[in-house]
Amino acid sequence: MGKTSKDKRDVYYRLAKEEGWRARSAFKLLHIEQAFGIFDGVQRAVDLCAAPGSWSQVLAKKLLRSSLTDDEKLAVKIIAVDLQAMAPLPGVVQIQGDITKESTAEAIIGHFSSDAQQKAQLVVCDGAPDVTGVHEMDEYMQNQLIVSALSIATFVLEPGGKFVAKIFKGNDNCLLESQMRTFFTNFCIFKPPSSRPSSIEAFVVCSGFRLPTGYIPQIINPARDDIRALSLKTGSETNRRLVPFIACGDLNGSLGDDVVGLMDDITLEDVEMAYDSFMKSDSTDDFKDVLNDVFQQEIAQRKKQTSQ
Ligand SMILES: C[S@@+](CC[C@H](N)C(=O)[O-])C[C@H]1O[C@@H](n2cnc3c(N)ncnc32)[C@H](O)[C@@H]1O
Repeated sequence: MGKTSKDKRDVYYRLAKEEGWRARSAFKLLHIEQAFGIFDGVQRAVDLCAAPGSWSQVLAKKLLRSSLTDDEKLAVKIIAVDLQAMAPLPGVVQIQGDITKESTAEAIIGHFSSDAQQKAQLVVCDGAPDVTGVHEMDEYMQNQLIVSALSIATFVLEPGGKFVAKIFKGNDNCLLESQMRTFFTNFCIFKPPSSRPSSIEAFVVCSGFRLPTGYIPQIINPARDDIRALSLKTGSETNRRLVPFIACGDLNGSLGDDVVGLMDDITLEDVEMAYDSFMKSDSTDDFKDVLNDVFQQEIAQRKKQTSQ
């Protein structure tokens, strides 16, 4: 049976057609909203990797409710970004570009002033790379999009803001969780009922955005940047001692050479120093507990490598 007939049998595909959504993905965002109330109190949002635009349609429908006054409607801001052009949507500003590129990140950031009253309250990212079929590589590419989305979010989100992003579930999302918990009070991995059970996709749903004390937002492209050098460049102790802001595949899986190479220049001494200064920091005990395991795993792995 061909792909088209299989898709047509899908209830959400049919519903999307009936209700005028550009893609069945609309239901994933609607189900995330039902479970977490992510649109509550939101007037300003960014939709990363937005084409063909069903999530932007959902945002426009929910944020530009017909019950709003004209003034309230004017205060609503929705920025949609994708590599591909998409058909215009009323109330949605579009940017065509690659979210892993600095110029695109700057164009998005340019729509939000540093005034906390004008920042975004929600950043969503449904980005998906072209899937290669090599699980570790696909997971790595997916995580690269998430790191780019998160680094854009650190510039544009207001304190307390929310972040939703697609992930490819690995055996162990521990590193991703520790990175997210650095910036958000609440972290959850959710598989909406409209996400096909056979798909490895799921969504991180984070709320309670907070910049760690002393952290200076940076535009990070894990595939291009030397993360350590970039962190040092900010002059911020906090940037330096945070868990490396990297995209990587499953830490317990067999990673491809390219992925492993990203972490090769971080030595055992670097990890131990980062661990010591993190444990002396004023981070909460809960957060220290979460990261303790990640650090111990890294240290043990590096000790094993150096003894070989
Ligand atoms: C699953 S689709 C998004 C569907 C969308 N949320 C909707 O509801 O219509 C994934 C999108 O990610 C975009 N994408 C992938 N990598 C990107 C990148 N580096 N920068 C911007 N967009 C990207 C693709 O062009 C594609 O349109």
